[in-house]
Parts: sequence; structure tokens; C-alpha cells
Amino acid sequence: MAALHAAILATSIGPGERIVASRDLYGTTTGLLNTIFANQGIGIDFVDTGDLAAVERALGAGAGGPARVLLAETVSNPLLRVADLPALADLARGAGAHLLVDATFTPPVLLRPLEWGADLAIHSTTKYLSGHGDVLGGAVIARPDYAGPLQTVSRLVGGVPGPQEAWLTLRGLKTLPLRYERQCENAATIAHWLADHPAIAAVHYPGLPGHPNHALATRLFDPQYRDREPSGDGRRDTPHYGAVVAFAIRDADRDRVFRFIDRLDLCLPATSLGDIYTLVAYPAIASHRDLPPKARARVGIGDGLVRLSAGIEHVDDIIADLAQALDGG
Ligand SMILES: Cc1ncc(COP(=O)(O)O)c(C=O)c1O
Repeated sequence: MAALHAAILATSIGPGERIVASRDLYGTTTGLLNTIFANQGIGIDFVDTGDLAAVERALGAGAGGPARVLLAETVSNPLLRVADLPALADLARGAGAHLLVDATFTPPVLLRPLEWGADLAIHSTTKYLSGHGDVLGGAVIARPDYAGPLQTVSRLVGGVPGPQEAWLTLRGLKTLPLRYERQCENAATIAHWLADHPAIAAVHYPGLPGHPNHALATRLFDPQYRDREPSGDGRRDTPHYGAVVAFAIRDADRDRVFRFIDRLDLCLPATSLGDIYTLVAYPAIASHRDLPPKARARVGIGDGLVRLSAGIEHVDDIIADLAQALDGG
């Protein structure tokens, strides 16, 4: 969160200017905008960043002053909608706004927003970059002209990592490509398995051909990483589409989801992601707990929806665990 705060301040936004932000940002980011920045006299407009015409309208001169920042996430939580970064970059440039992209769900081995026109990319290094669920941290990746303002903000505000966190993050980074490759392969296998399971009503994963942003993800996600040869066991024959999968348990209410999560043995209940262990989160009581049930259902987050962050365990073990928990009723 400190990295996001610093990145926004590094644009020199001030009172009388506006931030145009994606409607389905991580909840705490929405809170950051609505409190810290709104309290400074900065206008905040939320928009569906999948609707480019709406983004263009929002970036146009509004009552709240000129738009200085366009803020989106590379992949949304928990429905995994993929942002059209090159189109958003064109719109931001046309309006004289900085494009800031939270890339936490897509580490740089999969997607590098600056290559698609973003001005600043932000990562919660708590997730994939440190990778072991034992660090809180963040990073901003930006072109050199932002270095001065970023250093000034981090020095004055103090959002800097301690030595232990920095060391753990650097240590985690050494295995990022290996971990993430396995996590993506596991996620793809799990997504296909869930899609065929009778107890599952819907699976949200950009690697599934039916996902609304499948073609966009295929275009944006790193082709070098994507088009690598299959590994020896023949399992690896699809491109990588990230390591988070969301799925809806058919006709499930909260009790049914709680029973499913309680029965899991290998997969761990946790609100985080990007760990070497497979983590399962329940958006209705975690990331989206502040939304009333009807509003949640409208944005596609029903009471049966579960988010899974694939770990590096053997995929057969993860699937066996999911199978016994689903079959347990
Ligand atoms: C997309 C996104 N951005 C930012 C954050 C904040 O990260 P941290 O808790 O490391 O400050 C999170 C945390 O879940 C996240 O999912």
C-alpha cells in the first residue's frame, strides 16, 4: 500500500485534479483513494476499465478538474478480468494523465506493464515476488524520470522496507521464474479440472477459452515465457495465464462454502496469494465484505465464489484435496 501511495504522489497530483480508477480495485486501494487522496481535495472517479468508451469519458474534463492519474490493476480480483493496457495507455496519454498499473497478480515474468505503455507499475511484493508468505512489502517500477519524486516520497513518508524484509524479498526473487511456472501450470490444470466438475457452476481463469479476456491475455502475457516447449511429462502444453483461479460452487450458500474450506487438508484458508502453498480465500467475507450481498451478486461475486491461488505442490495432491472437500457436501 505504501508503494501505491508513493506512486500516486510521484505524479505530483494535487488539489483540484482527479484520479480515474478502476471500479474493481483491491478494496484497500479504493480506501486509500477515498480517504487519503479525497481528503486532499483530489477528485476520485470510479469507472469500469473494461469499458474503454467509459474510461475515455471519465478522463475527459470533468467537474472535478483535469484527470492526472488513471489507475487500474492488470488482472482484477477475484474475477480475473484482464486490463487492456495498450488501449488504456493510449487513452491516458491522450488525456495528459499518468497510467498507474497495480501488477500484483501478474509478476514481471508474465507481464511487464511498462512495455505496454504504463508509466508506473506497482507490486505488492508480499505476494509472488517474495513468494513465501513471510514478507510485507511493495515495489514501484517506473521510467527514470519518476526516480527523483519516488525517492523524495519514500524518504519523507518513510515507506521503506527493513533489512530483513529486503533480504527475504531478494532471496525469494531468485526462484520467482521456477515457482511461477509451476504455479501457472498447476492453476491451468486445476481450472480445467474444475470446469468439468459437476459441483462447479463457473470457473474464472484467463486461460480458459470461454473467459471474456482470453484473447487479450494471450496477446499481453509474455510470449517468450508463454510459448516455451512442453516439459518432459507432457503436462505443460498450454501457455501460461497466471496462477489465480476463481470458481463458484453450484447453489452454494456461505455454510456450504465454509464446509468446503473446513474440509480442505492441503490447501490453506488465507486471504493472501502468491505463496508456495495453495491458498483459498472467500471474497464474500474477505476482499468484498464491505459490499452488500445484492451489489456483490451484481458484480458477479456470489456467495458460492471461492478464490484459489495455486501453490507449487504436486497438482495431483491439490486436485485430490479439492475433490474430497467438494464431495464432502
Ligand atoms: C492487487 C493488490 N494490490 C495491493 C495489495 C496490498 O498489498 P500489501 O498488503 O502487501 O500492502 C494487495 C493485497 O492483497 C493486492 O491484492
